[in-house]
Amino acid sequence: EKGGWSSFMAKEISEEPEAVANTILGRVHDGLVSLKELEPIGDEALAGIDRIVIVACGTAAYAGMLGKYAIEEWSRIPVDVELSHEFRYRNPIITDRTLVISISQSGETMDTLMAVQHATKAGARVLSICNTQGATIPRESQAVVYTHAGPEVAVASTKAFLAQVTALYLVGLHLGKVRGTQTDEQIRENVIELQAVPEKIAEVLSVSQAEIGQLARWMTDTQSVLFLGRNVGYPVALEGALKLKELAYIHAEGFAAGELKHGPIALIEPGQVVIVVVPSPRDPHSLHPKVVSNIQEIRARGARVIAIAEKGDAAVLPFADEVIPIPLAGSLFEPFLAVVPMHIFGMELAAAKGLDVDQPRNLAKSVTVE
Ligand code: F6R
Repeated sequence: EKGGWSSFMAKEISEEPEAVANTILGRVHDGLVSLKELEPIGDEALAGIDRIVIVACGTAAYAGMLGKYAIEEWSRIPVDVELSHEFRYRNPIITDRTLVISISQSGETMDTLMAVQHATKAGARVLSICNTQGATIPRESQAVVYTHAGPEVAVASTKAFLAQVTALYLVGLHLGKVRGTQTDEQIRENVIELQAVPEKIAEVLSVSQAEIGQLARWMTDTQSVLFLGRNVGYPVALEGALKLKELAYIHAEGFAAGELKHGPIALIEPGQVVIVVVPSPRDPHSLHPKVVSNIQEIRARGARVIAIAEKGDAAVLPFADEVIPIPLAGSLFEPFLAVVPMHIFGMELAAAKGLDVDQPRNLAKSVTVE
């Protein structure tokens, strides 16, 4: 039941901290990750994996994109992310050293189920990340890591996304250990970062809800919103755009910020709202000044900029119309925090437009047809 919440989505967003915490629960021992769910594949086989293909649709595919950054970084195995419905209609290059990871909240998405069957037939090892015990996709997979987000009722996915990213990160750390690409000390540091995420999400929720609600109320007539992000901020931008389309029926597009000058900047005209995910000033790839300069470029053309930035980031203040602050976190962990305002924003804008937040038009919770 909804409890005292105005919608299932409001309730489910409020449960984002627990979705992450419960997905970690029982999977950390002595500060290290151990996923006994991976036993059906076995550490020996995992050590020999030379390629990972992540298959998923929609929001789950954006979780997969984040998984790519973390898994490559920690295990040094190349990772591709493919939409399930694209993957299955090719003759993908797969061997018994390929690990296919499917991601699905419902575990019933037909496109992803077909991709799993396709991969199995081609001889891949298949691991599924799923939020629904005993669903069809986990039943057809060699191994399953369940996310523990709890039941998700609102059609648009929110807390399950955070749980999916958590599960992928745990898989990445497990692989890092099995392959010896991460020292125990490094794994412990990353585990500590991951365990700190729920409390930081709670902080984002308490700090940004009112501000985003207010923003949403002045945006009810907005026709188009662009989202920019770089590196791990890019999938967050895509997720923000998807939520706005499906919940508020507003045209929205997510871009990699570096791509701006290769075309999308032509869209910027006075009044265009642009939401920018700003990397931390401590970003190891030094992307912060690049994104700040993107903000300057679009601001100079009259855009209205809403920045999601690390708290205390003084460099964005002069150029952003609004700043939504997020707590400090390591680069790979920022998306857990930056995506939360995206979810609130979609929900608040839909509510401000008087739309049904839990049941957007034309959509179903699980897409069991092709
Ligand atoms: C977006 C959304 C969809 C699902 C997609 C996959 O908010 O909910 O994009 O993420 O249909 O669904 P699952 O995860 O059940 O396979």
